[in-house]
Amino acid sequence: MKLFVANWKMNKTRGPARDFAAELARAIGDGIAGAELVIAPAFTALDAARDSRGRWSLACQNVAAQTQGPFTGEVSAAMAADAGCRYAIVGHSERRRLFGEDGPVLAQKIARCREAGVIPIYCIGETAEQRDAGLAAVTLVAQLDVLEADPPSQPLVVAYEPVWAIGAGRSATPEDCAGARAHVAGILSSRRDLRILYGGSVTPENARELLEASGMEGFLIGAASLSAASFEAIARA
Ligand code: PGA
Repeated sequence: MKLFVANWKMNKTRGPARDFAAELARAIGDGIAGAELVIAPAFTALDAARDSRGRWSLACQNVAAQTQGPFTGEVSAAMAADAGCRYAIVGHSERRRLFGEDGPVLAQKIARCREAGVIPIYCIGETAEQRDAGLAAVTLVAQLDVLEADPPSQPLVVAYEPVWAIGAGRSATPEDCAGARAHVAGILSSRRDLRILYGGSVTPENARELLEASGMEGFLIGAASLSAASFEAIARA
């Protein structure tokens, strides 16, 4: 099964989320063979994006590093699980860059996910500067160090999202993806249940080639996941 995760970021109130869900449900019928679908809406739209028939599952886009208590504005992994999230995106580059999240905090978030039974979708990826300086590979190694204390027997999704490809209108090449995939798989070779996704300007037009040539197990999709038609088209590709 290939995994396709719609990362809506800070888009869609409940009405548009409901419309998306209804359109996707019509489009996929009983589901898409060989494709597991996940929608990651804002917390406020989790209910609206839910499928009562379970043809897709839900993810949240972030969880708190703490378990519970006086952390105004935070949402715990246990709360996300209670709201129906099977997955949680952890360490998206926007959170790293705009909200200062780094290694120790991300390790705590992954630990909170484990306690709550939520599968982390852990995002990694180098910036353009790191790539130009020849530091892409060591950047990924450092970002994967966060998983050091995470039990290798637990299911894990890693999303390779080069920062220079996110929202950029130009994706990484299939060769870039294949190289990153092999690198990540090598570092995480002790993992028994690992899926590696690619993210960054995936569209219905480039999805098939990227998936076939890279060996990736699916995609984390931003802009192109905001339309049910293009999300469906990517999953069908
Ligand atoms: P994009 O975003 O598909 O809009 O490039 C991907 C992501 O940030 O997860």
